[in-house]
Amino acid sequence: MEYRRMGRTGLQLSSLSYGSWVTFHKQVDDSVADELMGIAYDNGVNFFDNAEVYARGESEKLMGRVLSRKQWDRTSYIVSSKAFFGWRAKENKPNQTGLSRKHLTEACHEALQRLQVDYLDIYFCHRPDKNVPIEEVVWTMNILLQQGKILYWGTSEWSAAEIMEAHRVAAQYGLIGPSVEQPQYNLLERNKLEYEFPNIFKTVGMGTTIWSPLASGLLTGKYNNGIPEGSRFALEGFGWLKDQWMVEDKLAKVRRLGELANELGTSLATLSIAWCISNPNVTTAILGATKKEQLIENLKALDIFPKLTPDILQRIDDIMQTKPRQAEF
Ligand SMILES: NC(=O)c1ccc[n+]([C@@H]2O[C@H](COP(=O)([O-])OP(=O)(O)OC[C@H]3O[C@@H](n4cnc5c(N)ncnc54)[C@H](OP(=O)(O)O)[C@@H]3O)[C@@H](O)[C@H]2O)c1
Repeated sequence: MEYRRMGRTGLQLSSLSYGSWVTFHKQVDDSVADELMGIAYDNGVNFFDNAEVYARGESEKLMGRVLSRKQWDRTSYIVSSKAFFGWRAKENKPNQTGLSRKHLTEACHEALQRLQVDYLDIYFCHRPDKNVPIEEVVWTMNILLQQGKILYWGTSEWSAAEIMEAHRVAAQYGLIGPSVEQPQYNLLERNKLEYEFPNIFKTVGMGTTIWSPLASGLLTGKYNNGIPEGSRFALEGFGWLKDQWMVEDKLAKVRRLGELANELGTSLATLSIAWCISNPNVTTAILGATKKEQLIENLKALDIFPKLTPDILQRIDDIMQTKPRQAEF
């Protein structure tokens, strides 16, 4: 395993990590989660990602049960949660969602209980909240830091301007700003990380824990000839995800990328994940997996990653045609 500092912090994250969105509770039960987290940990993964909204709190509870059974040294792993969406779905009342001091604090307490830990290593604002003053968010995160309930705080899917605003407020009051952002990043979705964020990497030095490195599985090639039974796009309630990704233009690119993976003697999944971590602004790529075989295959990205020469990266760009155009002055 390779470990990378999270932005300008001292925290070291494994460059591949493991998350539980969609999978835990819905597709993965206690025994499979136990096995998958065990494989990840034994292969050097030290970061496990979660959120209040995943499976309406059940994902955190499941991960908490596994962590409690495993009895791993608490200092050897990093666990996160995220607040914003609440966990009661349509039954959310005012104050049970968003980034108010009340919800951020209560969601933190709930995450600690569900995950059965004394502190969260990283606590994310899962989305920006235009209805809450940024001062309230920055102060709340700093109070939670001071109380020892969280060790680092971050943002997810915030704009560069929103992140800079949080840092401006933090600097004004001598507080700690967000040190990590969690954006989507994969071979089909590059704009935010490569076009919008380079300046915040230079100025405030954000780390990144990127999500959906396989575009929910599309970049494994498993959807090239339709939707396999039991796969994510076949799940009830995930039609929106299927509609977003199952587009002929994207599938055609994935098929061509598959030919390059063959030529390199690797799988599409492995190549696509290795490509994500070839970007030095990525601290860690959060893997999702419902099966042991998937996780084992995806962890092989570490072997292929050093083989991604500038020539191979150029060939990938030529196939995918998703590299953001740089501004011309
Ligand atoms: N901050 C946010 O807003 C946000 C949003 C989304 C995710 N996340 C985080 O990022 C993590 C990863 O996201 P993701 O689950 O979307 O990642 P992903 O890697 O894009 O998709 C993972 C899914 O693809 C399929 N898959 C993975 N490896 C495979 C392989 N080798 N062969 C065939 N199928 C394979 C599996 O689904 P099936 O077996 O069901 O087909 C797996 O659950 C989440 O768990 C969560 O922690 C954060």
